[in-house]
Amino acid sequence: MNILVTGGSGQLSSYLFEELASKHEAWGVDLREPVFESARGRVTIADILDPEAMREVCKGADAVVHTAAQVSVQRSTEDPAFDVETNVLGTVRVLKAARDAGASKFVMISSAAAYGNPRHVPVDEDHPAEPLSIYGSSKLSAEHFTQAFGSSYGMKWAVIRPFNFYSPRADPKSPYSGVITKFTQNAASGIPLRIEGDGSQTRDFLHAADVARLVRLVVESDRDGMVLNGGSGQATSILDLANVVKKVSPREVTIEHVAPRTADIKHSVARVERAREMVGFTTRISLEEGLKAFFRNGD
Ligand SMILES: NC(=O)c1ccc[n+]([C@@H]2O[C@H](COP(=O)([O-])OP(=O)(O)OC[C@H]3O[C@@H](n4cnc5c(N)ncnc54)[C@H](O)[C@@H]3O)[C@@H](O)[C@H]2O)c1
Repeated sequence: MNILVTGGSGQLSSYLFEELASKHEAWGVDLREPVFESARGRVTIADILDPEAMREVCKGADAVVHTAAQVSVQRSTEDPAFDVETNVLGTVRVLKAARDAGASKFVMISSAAAYGNPRHVPVDEDHPAEPLSIYGSSKLSAEHFTQAFGSSYGMKWAVIRPFNFYSPRADPKSPYSGVITKFTQNAASGIPLRIEGDGSQTRDFLHAADVARLVRLVVESDRDGMVLNGGSGQATSILDLANVVKKVSPREVTIEHVAPRTADIKHSVARVERAREMVGFTTRISLEEGLKAFFRNGD
């Protein structure tokens, strides 16, 4: 298949290009030049909001995987209009260009943020979508437009809602980096790991390479209209996470507790049966194995 990947210079896309390389022809579009080897030479520099540029990059695509996004919850709170512009209008621009180019499949990379505060765990895909953040709302809205383009124009679609994914390729300089990036960076620099509150809050961590494999399985599937969680199905407390980092770090690691975050989600873990039943996805990289890679050179 010929596959366009938006956000082609990002963390997830770098693994996706590796996943797709043996069987498919893939290229990307992004605002910035790629730094990862797998994406080099494949990415056109353009804004997904630019209809003309999107028309060009979509030419010849059988499928479009839409990963480009404003990815920070914090930034979405500070600048909601920017978040909506990128995540909603940007998605609509990509959907329109994909449809006009005759693409037969659209895969929207959404987020578990679309669920909001879980009413129950594990969170299955039929759990109510009640986003708490502007980011979660824009992702949910982008899902709805994806579905609407599917029913209006007959383009097959799928939505993936990843929980917390991580890899050494996440940008450590970003103020929005996730807890794993922060913990591993601190551990490598001899700075204490700071746990907000008692660390009993749980999350579902999945390696970005596993998410990329799920995306490939979804792209290759003939099913239409799938909504799938991207998770490991394992609830890991932040304290347990800190202890795994401590275990695999070559340097001495200390852990300290700081004030809890206000209105933080207490427990979040994905129910993952649907992805296994529909596309045969299971996790391959354990948390410990995934974390060890942060302390090796390269990844
Ligand atoms: N990292 C996580 O834990 C997580 C969890 C759930 C969902 N997601 C979603 O997964 C997707 C990929 O995440 P990632 O961690 O690889 O993010 P990333 O920031 O590494 O990649 C996103 C890419 O999109 C590009 N982009 C942003 N705005 C653009 C625009 N207007 N035009 C063109 N390109 C633009 C960025 O330059 C970046 O390279 C995102 O949609 C994100 O919301 C991430």
